[in-house]
Amino acid sequence: MTESREKFYGRRKGKKLRSNRVRLVEDVLPQIRCPRGLPEDASRFKQIWLEVGFGSGEHLATQAAAHPDILMIGCEPFINGVAKLCQYVEEQSLKNVRIFDDDARLLLDALPDACLDRVFVLFADPWPKNRHAERRFIGQPNLDRLARLMKPGTELRLASDHPVLKRWMIGQMRIRPDFSWRLDKCHEWLHRPADWPPTRYEQKALHGRPIFLTFVRK
Ligand SMILES: C[S@@+](CC[C@H](N)C(=O)[O-])C[C@H]1O[C@@H](n2cnc3c(N)ncnc32)[C@H](O)[C@@H]1O
Repeated sequence: MTESREKFYGRRKGKKLRSNRVRLVEDVLPQIRCPRGLPEDASRFKQIWLEVGFGSGEHLATQAAAHPDILMIGCEPFINGVAKLCQYVEEQSLKNVRIFDDDARLLLDALPDACLDRVFVLFADPWPKNRHAERRFIGQPNLDRLARLMKPGTELRLASDHPVLKRWMIGQMRIRPDFSWRLDKCHEWLHRPADWPPTRYEQKALHGRPIFLTFVRK
C-alpha cells in the first residue's frame, strides 16, 4: 500500500474552538473517527459514499440522515468543520457517519479497490493562480486514485462557483477515458439535483454562479 507524502496546503485550524466544540472533538470524534482504511463495521452498510472536504458538514449530515443504510465517510482536516459535523452527528443521532480528520489522500491510498459507491468533491479550494494548479484537488493524480476506488457505474459529483476551477475541472474530467459526463439536458449543470443538498460554499457563491457536475465511473 502506498502512502501519500504530498504536502497539504489548506488550513487545519481557524478560530479558537468554543468549549462545546472542544467537547465534541474530545467526546464525539473519537467514537466516529475513520481509521486509515475501511471502518471495521463497513460491511454492515449497503453502500459507502465518500465526501472530500466536507467543510462544515451540512451536505454530508443531510445525506446521512436521508440514507441511514449508507456509510458516509467524510474527509476534512479543518478542525472547526470537523467539530461542526460532530455537532450534527450528536444532535441528529446519526449512526452512519465516519470522519477522517486529515488529508483525504492518506485515506484514499489506504482503501481497497472498488469499495466506493459515490464520491462528492463540492466547492473544492480553487487555487486560482496558474502556479498553484497542482494544488487543486481535482487533477490527474487524485482522479487516478478515485478511479481505482470507485465501482463501475458509480457517480462522482463535483461542484464549484469559481470560474477558474469550473474550467479546470471540466478540462481535467474530459481527458479521462474512465469517467463519462452525465449531462442529459442542456444547462442541467446550472441546477442542483433534488437529491443533492446545498453546502455552505454554494450558499456563499462568492465567485459566481455554481455549477453541478456528475460523472460516472465507466
Ligand atoms: C472551499 S471549502 C468547501 C467546503 C464544503 N465542501 C462546502 O461546499 O461548503 C474546501 C474544503 O476542502 C477541504 N480540503 C482541501 N483539501 C483537502 C484534502 N486534501 N483532503 C480533505 N479535505 C480537503 C478544506 O479544508 C476545506 O474545508
